[in-house]
Amino acid sequence: MRYNKVGNSELSVSEIGLGCMSLPEDDPSSATRIISGALELGINYFDTADLYGRGANESLIGKALRGVRKKIVLATKVGNQWEEGKEGWTWNPSKAHILRSVEDSLQRLQTDYIDLYQLHGGTCEDNFEEVMETFELLVQQGKIRCYGISSIRPNVFTAYLQQSGIVSDMMQYSLLDTRPEEFFDEFEKHSVSIVARGAMAQGLLLDKVVDKSYLDHNIEEVQVVKGLVTHLGDKYGVGKQAIALKYCLEKPVVCSALVGIRTFDQLAQLQQSYTDYLKIADKDMHADFSTLRKIRYREHR
Ligand SMILES: NC(=O)c1ccc[n+]([C@@H]2O[C@H](COP(=O)([O-])OP(=O)(O)OC[C@H]3O[C@@H](n4cnc5c(N)ncnc54)[C@H](OP(=O)(O)O)[C@@H]3O)[C@@H](O)[C@H]2O)c1
Repeated sequence: MRYNKVGNSELSVSEIGLGCMSLPEDDPSSATRIISGALELGINYFDTADLYGRGANESLIGKALRGVRKKIVLATKVGNQWEEGKEGWTWNPSKAHILRSVEDSLQRLQTDYIDLYQLHGGTCEDNFEEVMETFELLVQQGKIRCYGISSIRPNVFTAYLQQSGIVSDMMQYSLLDTRPEEFFDEFEKHSVSIVARGAMAQGLLLDKVVDKSYLDHNIEEVQVVKGLVTHLGDKYGVGKQAIALKYCLEKPVVCSALVGIRTFDQLAQLQQSYTDYLKIADKDMHADFSTLRKIRYREHR
């Protein structure tokens, strides 16, 4: 496994991270087996959120990772508020809510510090200064090591890039969602890393049947991208997932690709794909991807 620094922080994360949202919370023994398998693969970076399973996801991974806490990078998110017995959730990035939530997350994660604490979204109506002050306070208190955001809204992430100490932004990024690329220079200028999520477009770039459009790509265009992935896999003698990973990880601004895993078979496939990926990791495949139709963010600009 290869590891990268996250922005200007001290964190060193595996270039494949485990996106814990897809773990089977209703089957803790399978989830724990997936987590153990991920550790064996060299994955040290685990991403969750307080909202996933309304705390259940954090509790699950807190228990599974307790014994290796110091060896891993634990990332979680804050900003969504829910109430017992009520459906849905509301957005609340206030100081009071963040200070309350961090205590709950620490308890569920069975730890006294979070490596990467991320604002789980955000709008341009938020009080940026208050969010920053709160995150800085948590750093001073030793409750978090550093902080980032998870935002695909240009008007939000550019504001944070320009006026805050964030070290990362988690963004959906793949061959089918190239929207972040327009902003790569800006991220590099501020030494902020991108954590890529959705590199396989929920499996659409792998073996799942294409029966729907994806963002600005209609079904035919999705088929074309999938065809390109298959063609490049054949050309280099690797699987499709390796190509999807390569597309994200070859960009220096991307520190890690978070992969969502639901079953142990998917983890076994990821292991094979990562071995494949290492064969092409240092190849210049710029020309191979040159036919890709790039898309841009249309909203929140
Ligand atoms: N706003 C946010 O902050 C935000 C939003 C979304 C995700 N995330 C984070 O990013 C992580 C990854 O996101 P994601 O789950 O959207 O992206 P993803 O990695 O593209 O999709 C995960 C899904 O891909 C499918 N999959 C995995 N391996 C496969 C294989 N070998 N063959 C076919 N399908 C396979 C599984 O779908 P099935 O379940 O259908 O098998 C799995 O649930 C999440 O776990 C979470 O930590 C954050």
